This record gives sequence, structure tokens and C-alpha cells, in this order.
Amino acid sequence: MRIIIVNGSLRKNGATAYFLHRVEKTLAELGAEVVFYDLTEQNIALCKGCCACYKVGGCVIDDDGERISRELRTADGVVLGSSTIASNVSAVMKLFIDRAHFVIEQLLYGKYAFCVATYENYGGGKALKVLTDLVKLSGAALSGAVAEKLPFNSANGGSEKINEKADRYARKLFSDIENRKPYRVQKMIHKIVQNVGIKPLINRKGDAYAAVRRRWTELELLK
Ligand SMILES: Cc1cc2nc3c(=O)[nH]c(=O)nc-3n(C[C@H](O)[C@H](O)[C@H](O)COP(=O)(O)O)c2cc1C
Repeated sequence: MRIIIVNGSLRKNGATAYFLHRVEKTLAELGAEVVFYDLTEQNIALCKGCCACYKVGGCVIDDDGERISRELRTADGVVLGSSTIASNVSAVMKLFIDRAHFVIEQLLYGKYAFCVATYENYGGGKALKVLTDLVKLSGAALSGAVAEKLPFNSANGGSEKINEKADRYARKLFSDIENRKPYRVQKMIHKIVQNVGIKPLINRKGDAYAAVRRRWTELELLK
């Protein structure tokens, strides 16, 4: 079982990283192969908005954004974390989302995901929603999600309560993947969104979305 953790905090050793590293530790102890990425350590250029990825199946910019996106395709699970910045995800997380061509490509189809947004005062729920919507629209089952209110700079103040919470979500993610938990309601909603909201666009775009059509065919989403 391979799980990719993406830390979208602006800080490598902040509160978000603390939570995510605890998830990493627990998943590893359970036997998962875990890869941890701090987005601030990656070389990720701005999306150019050319949409070439939908035609050719990859970004024209071959940097870490594209590399991690490719890795996500072969993972069983993904953990996305972000601090809350102005009631949203961080800029680096948004950059990664833009570059990784998640939704149209159904990048996370059939995978399981857990999301965490840390915040200090207000807006953590909004940041979390950006992450959970992304996960659900990209075809993954949302195993768990939490907006964690913490005092600023609480990176080293990881309490037993936080540890227990991170452990709980990690164990749930591991068990969901291991048992292929069906999440029938999420699947049904995703199917409606995919058929009504995304598929007509792909059909309309024709050859401009050739790679997307190929991927959807591989995933048996298109006949
Ligand atoms: C520029 C900036 C903007 C922030 N905006 C918000 C915000 O809108 N709402 C909030 O509750 N916390 C906000 N915070 C606080 C952080 O989201 C919070 O402390 C978070 O846990 C920090 O995570 P980190 O330790 O991983 O960096 C902001 C912090 C920074 C640096």
C-alpha cells in the first residue's frame, strides 16, 4: 500500500506538518509505504493555463508539480494538508492543485484520501472544503477530514489529543484502503457530478481533451 502525503503549509515544521508527520508515522507503523512531500521544498512553476495536459496527458512544464502528479496516479491513498491563509488553502497548495490536473483527469479515481486544514481563528472549514471538494471531484473516496484549530506556532505543542486524532484518521485511512471500503453514497454523488458536470465538457472538447478521453477509457469511465 502506497500513500502520498502532501504538506501544503507555508512552513516545513509548522502545525500542519506536525499533524501530517504523525499521520505518516502511524501509517508507516501499520505497514504502508509513505512518501511525504513538503510543497515549499518543491520546484513548482505557475500553471500557464494552456490546457495542453488535457490533450497530451502531461504538463508542458516538467518540474516537481508534474512529477508528484504522476506519482499520485499510482498511489493507493493520498493525504492533503494545508494551513489556512486568508480563509483559503495556502498559495503553494493552490499552485499544486492548479498544476496537478486533478479534476478533469480524475486523478484520484478509486483512491482514498484524508484532508486536514489547520487554522487559528476563522476560515479553517473553508480551506478544508477546498481540499475535500478537490478529492471528491477527482474521484477519490474521502476517508476523513478535519479542520484543526490550533494556536499559531503550535508546531512543537503537539498534544496527546492531537496525536490521538492523527492516529485515528491514519488508522481509518489504512483500514479503508485495506478493506476497499465502498463509500456508496460518495460514489453515487461522484457519478452524478461526473456524468452531468464533467463528461459533457470532455465530449464537447473533442481532440483538445484526447488524453483525458484516453484516461477515462482506461478507468472505464468512457465506453
Ligand atoms: C499569512 C497568514 C494568514 C493566515 N490566515 C488565517 C485565516 O484566515 N484564518 C485562520 O484561522 N488562521 C489564519 N492563519 C493562521 C494559520 O492558518 C494557522 O496558525 C495554521 O495552523 C498555521 O499552520 P502552520 O504552522 O503549518 O504554518 C494565517 C497565517 C498566516 C501566516
